[in-house]
Amino acid sequence: MERLRIASLFCGCGGTDAGMLGGFTFLGSKYEKHPVQIVYANDIDASAARIYDANFKHKCLVKDIRKIKAAEIPDHDILAGGFPCQSFSIVAQNPPRLGYRDENGRLFFEMCRILRNKKPLAFVAENVKGILSANNKHAFPLIIKEFEKCGYIVSWCLLNAANYGIPQRRERVFIVGIRKNIGRKFYPPDSTHRPESDLLAERKWVSLKRVVFPHAKVPKKYFFSDRAHKGLHNSNPAMNKGRAQDPEKVCNTVGAHLAKVSLNSTDPVLKINGRFRRFAPREVARIQSFPDTFRLPGPDTAKYKALGNAIPPVLMWHMTERLLEILVKGPAEDARTGREKRSYNMARICSKNTLIERILDEALKSLGLEYKRNVKGLPGKPDIVFEKNRLAVFCDSTFWHGRHYPECVERINTNKSFWKNKILRNMERDKKTTKELRYLGWKVLRFWDTDIENRMQAVIGKIEKILGAQK
Ligand SMILES: C[S@@+](CC[C@H](N)C(=O)[O-])C[C@H]1O[C@@H](n2cnc3c(N)ncnc32)[C@H](O)[C@@H]1O
Repeated sequence: MERLRIASLFCGCGGTDAGMLGGFTFLGSKYEKHPVQIVYANDIDASAARIYDANFKHKCLVKDIRKIKAAEIPDHDILAGGFPCQSFSIVAQNPPRLGYRDENGRLFFEMCRILRNKKPLAFVAENVKGILSANNKHAFPLIIKEFEKCGYIVSWCLLNAANYGIPQRRERVFIVGIRKNIGRKFYPPDSTHRPESDLLAERKWVSLKRVVFPHAKVPKKYFFSDRAHKGLHNSNPAMNKGRAQDPEKVCNTVGAHLAKVSLNSTDPVLKINGRFRRFAPREVARIQSFPDTFRLPGPDTAKYKALGNAIPPVLMWHMTERLLEILVKGPAEDARTGREKRSYNMARICSKNTLIERILDEALKSLGLEYKRNVKGLPGKPDIVFEKNRLAVFCDSTFWHGRHYPECVERINTNKSFWKNKILRNMERDKKTTKELRYLGWKVLRFWDTDIENRMQAVIGKIEKILGAQK
């Protein structure tokens, strides 16, 4: 598979870009390189760009996006952009939230302009949760509609970084569009971690203590002064100032405001032996899931701002995994240009998948059976669910779910390790899902696509056997 080309708008210090590229380690886990390359990066802020440039081979162009013609941006397959969020953020109440009527709130139109002109295969936009309710909930539908008008099947999801092994509770809205002629819709990546309260979770949320420095090693300048402590002592407790974080839990959201954190604000801080301190920039980077190899040049204020604004790389890595998985499934080969076609060679292997679900669906329907499809509330979102009989059925693609693993990997010519890891992860996830469902008292049947295609009688027989036995 050829590397997909990414154009990165509002790139900031590069959280999005680090996550999309992959090839880094965080808290001992390896996030594999993705078969992508960044062909363009832009931001208006020179101090964020300074950090960006220290970390990537290519450079960030420092310029107002409103002054850049679409023709100046190279052709690309994916347009990424966490457009500025201050005007949508609930935290940024002063000045009040203006939403899309404010100049900054209108910058998503710049993404639309580039999409209309460049027509990449897909785009990913990110913003704060507040965007969902901005302008009395009028802004968000308008934004979605504008993106749709550019020729994309648009979906959105609200993801919490903590559910992906990041030691921070950070809820962000992702808007993802896939070009209409590809005929696919994005769906969010499965979470990898669950809150402590989830008894079934194999992996729990990662606590803050995993990423903070031993306090003796933290320079004095990060501790608040006696005067600040006195001020806090005199403040009204109901104001909930000086929000000391529990190191045993995930951290509250770290935002760009950290540059101005004081004990009088509601930003997260640490309290050790009665003394409060702010996080050091490297700790903020870790709370955001940047690897320790990510360089942070420049003054602390610039670091706090850029890091607080960033999309956590690990979260963006999971988003990219899912996007690539969906893009390479694309069936509409004839709608693609020569280059795009080459990028989609993998499609031949897996495009049958949804068709297979439909074949089984038709067969079950013809028998007059009662069932539901793609039930979201159950682990693994089973393809077919017989609720009364508590039977969950999955249609597994021979390739993606590793029927002939490891031989199947040998047949792939490029990016072998990327595909291998992907298949391995699917296999692990399948096992986990089956275990979870059984634990919840469900029966689980998994069928290979080839069996559904060639041995339908046997497939139906197995399903009927379970349904019959329970009548
Ligand atoms: C939410 S941050 C994006 C952070 C980035 N996605 C990351 O992961 O590091 C929004 C960025 O938009 C940039 N920005 C704001 N107005 C801009 C404009 N008119 N042109 C280009 N960039 C702009 C800001 O400097 C800021 O870095």
